[in-house]
Amino acid sequence: MAGEERNLIPKVQIKDVKKIYEGRNGQTIALNGANLDIYDNEFICVVGPSGCGKSTLLNIIAGLHEATSGEVLVDGVKVEGTGVDRGVVFQQYALFPWLTVKKNVMFGLNLKKGMTDAEREETALKYIKMVGLEKFVNSYPKELSGGMKQRVAIARAYAVNPSLLLMDEPFGALDAQTRTQLQTELLKTWEEEKKTCFFITHDVEEAILLASRVVVMSARPGRIKEVIDIDIPYPRNQETKMLPRFTELKNYIWQNVYKEYLEVQK
Ligand SMILES: Nc1ncnc2c1ncn2[C@@H]1O[C@H](COP(=O)(O)OP(=O)(O)OP(=O)(O)O)[C@@H](O)[C@H]1O
Ligand SMILES: [Mg+2]
Repeated sequence: MAGEERNLIPKVQIKDVKKIYEGRNGQTIALNGANLDIYDNEFICVVGPSGCGKSTLLNIIAGLHEATSGEVLVDGVKVEGTGVDRGVVFQQYALFPWLTVKKNVMFGLNLKKGMTDAEREETALKYIKMVGLEKFVNSYPKELSGGMKQRVAIARAYAVNPSLLLMDEPFGALDAQTRTQLQTELLKTWEEEKKTCFFITHDVEEAILLASRVVVMSARPGRIKEVIDIDIPYPRNQETKMLPRFTELKNYIWQNVYKEYLEVQK
């Protein structure tokens, strides 16, 4: 990224965010001081061992959870709840089973004021087409495969045209082929629409393929351990994985993450 762009206000500012959950078995420190600036049009991928606080951080940025201390600013404004500027794709598919694909995608648009029903429908159809589900607009979630459901969730998030997309392991439960296909689609759409993406994954290869920067989180209590610039130019595709630089980055990041997995085992 050019130096001058760095002078702009970051799209997202994560400032010393701590999160303590009070449970029946006492407290869990999920995040212990996370700090990160994310710039406009960046694609950030977050990796780290299970339970290190990745979803917690995403939920705080989304405004679904409140930080115990610290704060998150989006476009310079403190996050105090959800907003149509932020689209979320959850770790588990979160579709309404009683709504068709079209109605599921239109759902988020109900929050957008000043749109007619016809405009909502037109927008929903555009994004359903983008994820290749135009033949399934009137299907219900139970009639779709896991990959198709996740495409609906992605279409729903995109339809609202958020400037920030928050995605929590969106491809985690998918088979390798569908995953590869959705990665390619996501890259293409991001390159066209240039939104800011915050994407959680367990898969180091996926992170390097997609991200402009990869964030490695440490074992719980979560902190941001290292941020690695992925200096492989876009456009990228599955062949990018064959580049020697890709392998170098993969080995480096994997070793880094693996240390954190070992911490969890202790
Ligand atoms: N609502 C909650 N109440 C109590 N503890 C919670 C709650 N949500 C998360 N935690 C705890 O906070 C820690 C971080 O959880 P989080 O879901 O953020 O992890 P994660 O990095 O997303 O893990 P995974 O990779 O498995 O999805 C975990 O120890 C978890 O048990
Ligand atoms: Mg999670």
